[in-house]
Amino acid sequence: MKQRKIAVLGGGGRTGKYLVNHLINEGFQLKVLLRHPKQFLIQSQQIEIVKGDATHHESVRQLVEGCDAIISVVGQRPGEPLVASRATQNLLDSMNESGIKRLISLAGLNVDAPSDRKGKETLMGTEWMKANYPEIHADRQKSYALLEQSPVNWTLVRVPFIEFQEASGELAVNLKDCPSGKINSGSLAIFLVDQLFDESYCRKAPFVASV
Ligand SMILES: NC(=O)c1ccc[n+]([C@@H]2O[C@H](COP(=O)([O-])OP(=O)(O)OC[C@H]3O[C@@H](n4cnc5c(N)ncnc54)[C@H](OP(=O)(O)O)[C@@H]3O)[C@@H](O)[C@H]2O)c1
Repeated sequence: MKQRKIAVLGGGGRTGKYLVNHLINEGFQLKVLLRHPKQFLIQSQQIEIVKGDATHHESVRQLVEGCDAIISVVGQRPGEPLVASRATQNLLDSMNESGIKRLISLAGLNVDAPSDRKGKETLMGTEWMKANYPEIHADRQKSYALLEQSPVNWTLVRVPFIEFQEASGELAVNLKDCPSGKINSGSLAIFLVDQLFDESYCRKAPFVASV
């Protein structure tokens, strides 16, 4: 599978920086959607910056043009309009228009999938999100429903608390329950990029965490 030009959403965020650096180190060409390009400090000739907003269809259309696959690590900013479901809808529409087949997206362990068998810790995390951020949780759930209804090869990677540090240790992947309460961003970036060439979790929402 030839997937060398990758569209990235959320590349200026905490996880996003690890993702962008890993993609660069692996030799990919990137298009990175940024609302505030001046705040983005990673410099590389492999990066093309697209200024825009994930909730705007035209921005997303411009971003994915000429790309082979998409990785989204967009996260909700406090006090801003809900981003997850609108970004997902824009991505699916743009993929339909451009023929791109592969979408890898990141979310929290609070998202529910029908085949889940969440254990006590994962259920506690889910209930905490539902109680404290009901609209954000519902929007994430809507985003998952959009993916499920779509024809594309999506993977929704669900993770617990992210520790922002370089890759270390091993990851566990489980389709029913989250393997642990944390993951480091370096290892997560590697997992996300590996999914570009691995069909094991196509149209699935694996939990991924450090062991
Ligand atoms: N942090 C955790 O412990 C944790 C745990 C579980 C799951 N997650 C999930 O992992 C993902 C990444 O988390 P993070 O903590 O790395 O996120 P983060 O540091 O808050 O970064 C979020 C990124 O999304 C971008 N963004 C937000 N709204 C946007 C919009 N409308 N258009 C374009 N870009 C937009 C932000 O850009 P700006 O700079 O322009 O705002 C930023 O680059 C999120 O989906 C989050 O829910 C995080």
